[in-house]
Amino acid sequence: MMLCYSLVVALAIATSVIAGQFDFDTTTQQFPIVALPPPPPPPIADTSGRLVHDAAHPWHAPEEGDMRGPCPGLNTLASHGWLPRDGVATPAQIITAVQEGFNMGYDLAAFVTYAGHIVDGNLLTNKLSIGQATNRTGPPPPPPAHAGGLSAHGAFEGDASITRGDAYLGDNDSFNATLFDEFVSVSEKYGGGAYDFAAAGALRMARIRDSIARNPYFRLLAPRYHTAYAESVFPIAFFIDGRRTGAERTRLDPAVARGFFESARMPPDFWRSSSPWGRPEVGIAVDALYRAHPISPGSNNGTVDSYTHDPTSPRLHQFCEMYTDYVNVTVRELYPNAKGVLLAALNKNLDYLYSALGRTSCPQVPPFV
Ligand code: HEM
Ligand SMILES: *[C@@H]1O[C@H](CO)[C@@H](O)[C@H](O)[C@H]1NC(C)=O
Ligand SMILES: *[C@@H]1O[C@H](CO)[C@@H](O)[C@H](O)[C@H]1NC(C)=O
Ligand SMILES: *[C@@H]1O[C@H](CO)[C@@H](O)[C@H](O)[C@H]1NC(C)=O
Ligand SMILES: *[C@@H]1O[C@H](CO)[C@@H](O)[C@H](O)[C@H]1NC(C)=O
Ligand SMILES: *[C@@H]1O[C@H](CO)[C@@H](O)[C@H](O)[C@H]1NC(C)=O
Repeated sequence: MMLCYSLVVALAIATSVIAGQFDFDTTTQQFPIVALPPPPPPPIADTSGRLVHDAAHPWHAPEEGDMRGPCPGLNTLASHGWLPRDGVATPAQIITAVQEGFNMGYDLAAFVTYAGHIVDGNLLTNKLSIGQATNRTGPPPPPPAHAGGLSAHGAFEGDASITRGDAYLGDNDSFNATLFDEFVSVSEKYGGGAYDFAAAGALRMARIRDSIARNPYFRLLAPRYHTAYAESVFPIAFFIDGRRTGAERTRLDPAVARGFFESARMPPDFWRSSSPWGRPEVGIAVDALYRAHPISPGSNNGTVDSYTHDPTSPRLHQFCEMYTDYVNVTVRELYPNAKGVLLAALNKNLDYLYSALGRTSCPQVPPFV
């Protein structure tokens, strides 16, 4: 069956805006090819704190077939209807939902969303599963690309997670109660019973040490190296009620944390953060975690306890290098020779990723050819 789609797509390219008319053939009506993905939505207008577990966003357990994965933030947004409850979403839906539901800063929201979508999403249908692969994101791209959803191990999902196991050790996807026990005990030991920055730093190091000791194929290289540290800050940034002030604003109750990590559930009457946490705010906290327990990017070599620093992998503060490495290595490995409309969609998403860097001096990696 051949169907034609006629779409008007607005392309924002540098300073000019070009409006064009496109016709594409595709194989199934259920999966219209998004002829060049639309640009990211603008930032939300009001970034103050507000009730987000409200009457319009009740928690429902996922139903059979709904996708949930390794990210407690996105799982929670789906289970409260800030994202489609089936866990399949467009980048625009994710960028808006993480701002609306948690007050993630726009810069970070856009960067992380495109970084995840490009490697784990379907670039032709513009859909991403927040869990495992599903045919609801459309026909998969040619291998080695997979559009396998955020649960796919490797490009984005990685080792030394807080509450999920390493892929090598088994289930890298679902909540692990044994690992959460460690979250609680480290919070008791370092945070006086709360997950605070001291506990976050100690737990980050402990999770890395555990992987070094038990996973012969442990890898902690960019961009996973960067997301591992950032995700240790996210519970403090986003899972604490925004009405808290002073020292209490950075002390997360483990029982509340468990609701997010295990059940994708906000506490009753939950308010999002009273101010956005974007790249600058998360970056300062990441620096503090790193300074307390510095660990360099590296990997084991096929045996446990062989962790070796990899000097070719960008460090935490090397944000431009991380971006370049992500595009030129991580993405390039998945799409070694994309052609035609797939190549166009890939380059468009890479443009949006670059735009999400904001006013930095990072040079843009040239488009793939
Ligand atoms: C902006 C789009 C986002 C994407 C694409 C994304 C994706 C992911 C992925 C793939 C992981 C798994 C990494 C791993 O542990 O191997 C992850 C982990 C995590 N995410 Fe997200 N995430 C996003 C936003 C958020 C938000 C808004 C929050 C908090 C509200 C959040 C909180 C976390 C936390 C705490 C972890 C660590 C889980 C653990 O280690 O047990 N994320 N995210
Ligand atoms: C997706 O897979 C399910 C289960 O195998 C099947 O019932 C459904 O028809 C498929 N949907 C599409 C759109 O291919
Ligand atoms: C990661 O976990 C998912 C879900 O359990 C599983 O399907 C996948 O095979 C795992 N990946 C690896 C590399 O073990
Ligand atoms: C949970 O994690 C622990 C510690 O890594 C591991 O021993 C256990 O097998 C995991 N449980 C499941 C159900 O994967
Ligand atoms: C891996 O590292 C260990 C310890 O550093 C070393 O003894 C071993 O020879 C290395 N193995 C390989 C395959 O490089
Ligand atoms: C990225 O790869 C492209 C194509 O191989 C190359 O032209 C470019 O110089 C690389 N950029 C960096 C910063 O390594």
